[in-house]
Amino acid sequence: MNMKKYLFPLLVASTISSYAQNSGSLSVSNDSQLTISRHIYGQFAEHLGHGIYGGFWSDKLPGAKNQNRIRMDIVEALKKIKIPNLRWPGGCFADEYHWRDGIGPGTQRPRMVNTNWGGVVEDNSFGTNEFLKLCGLLGCEPYITANVGSGTVDEMSKWVEYLNFDGESPVTKLRALNGHPAPYKVSFWGVGNESWGCGGNMTPSFYADQYRRYASFAKNYPNMPLKKIACGPNSGDYNWTEVIMKNIPIQTLWGISLHYYTLPTGNWSKKGSATNFTDEDYFNTVKNCLKMDELITKHSAIMDKYDPRKHVALVVDEWGIWTDVEPGTNPGFLYQQNSLRDALVAATTLNIFNNHCDRVKMANLAQTINVLQALILTDKDKMLLTPTYHIFDMYKVHQDAKFLPVKLNSPDYVSGTDKIAAVNVSASQDATGKIHISLVNLDPHKNIPITIDLNDMKWKTVIGEILTSTHITDINTFAQPDKLHLKSFTDAKKDGSKLIVNMPSKSAVTLELN
Ligand code: AHR
Repeated sequence: MNMKKYLFPLLVASTISSYAQNSGSLSVSNDSQLTISRHIYGQFAEHLGHGIYGGFWSDKLPGAKNQNRIRMDIVEALKKIKIPNLRWPGGCFADEYHWRDGIGPGTQRPRMVNTNWGGVVEDNSFGTNEFLKLCGLLGCEPYITANVGSGTVDEMSKWVEYLNFDGESPVTKLRALNGHPAPYKVSFWGVGNESWGCGGNMTPSFYADQYRRYASFAKNYPNMPLKKIACGPNSGDYNWTEVIMKNIPIQTLWGISLHYYTLPTGNWSKKGSATNFTDEDYFNTVKNCLKMDELITKHSAIMDKYDPRKHVALVVDEWGIWTDVEPGTNPGFLYQQNSLRDALVAATTLNIFNNHCDRVKMANLAQTINVLQALILTDKDKMLLTPTYHIFDMYKVHQDAKFLPVKLNSPDYVSGTDKIAAVNVSASQDATGKIHISLVNLDPHKNIPITIDLNDMKWKTVIGEILTSTHITDINTFAQPDKLHLKSFTDAKKDGSKLIVNMPSKSAVTLELN
């Protein structure tokens, strides 16, 4: 028997199969009429820890260019990444907040205890007018969550009137007295927050009835239609979605919310460290992050039964990685560091949202400054941009761009006996015709070559940006604030009609094709 004759095909087969395991292929098409809403890139600022106080709203710092007490260095950094909306005042805080306590002369504003977050005294110095001023400086839309848990229908109704009515009434007179005669025009309104939990521990049918009452008296003033967002499910509570969609008339809804946090361990009582984690912890974290895709798919399928035309948005208005707090910090302040792992969690989640842009029209990372998966950390007058900030910078090109569907064949990222897809991706085309492809390689050890087919879309040149670092645990610190930052990416080449990209391990890359 001629062994050589039989060995050769075996060798070829094994080379092909190992090539297939170590490399990926991607097909991008322009067969879609969908747009990726810019509001997917939204942010969230609650009265919690140093998110507002000691974050956005700080005593004037030496040399800082504050506007009143608003930190302009933070504002400038967030303007650069074009944050489209800011959710406020909570979170759990929203269902204890009474907006009238936060207007008028600062010295006359009553104090309250923030029972959810460390039991600290809230002096109400940052209230409605300050929030709207901040949104104006940021150039973003406000998204206000009204108090359904401990508030009243009248309170929400008058808050809407205070902000949106362009005529004379007791509350609009107050608005003028507070320095703003013209209406602010706030369209995004959350009707309660986590009404299944901290917002009142309601059943879904009780909440649906409450929503109908609150929404009835939250009026659309002329040229100011509201986009009302009902409290949707916690993570995989599919019954909540079913009951809400069944019991609330869809024409009264702009959206329903979904809250899902990535916990490294999956365990609320011991979530895991933000900086000190093993490869196995990392694998479990990104696996938990990928669950977002399943949640959106299954909640959307329920919504499709009641709303096949996808009139109602799924608004993921709280998401991000939630770890143990930094040692020595107030456990009620939820202050955590931010590593390359968090950046890849953000990039992967944003890819999931982009790919579900038919239903997901808005999302809010929790929370912008100094809380949970923050974009910015501050230390007195200093501030630093986290790795997650750089992902939002890199991904801003997808805002309001045309969605491009993708088909990906990814190698596995294997850990022990478990595995997930190593690569994830989303793509879009902006108004000038540029194509942007955002790829993530979650594997912490393997580089992955990917062959991309753009089908009938024409392009000549490719450039790119990358975020990566030596270790998956790497962070930016006040001693080394720029350790992780965007760099130009040069490992993408045109090869005939194909694009060949070599994705480094543990990296996020956005390519621009012209
Ligand atoms: O983002 C922190 C908290 O998480 C919010 O206040 C609450 O809505 C959620 O449980």
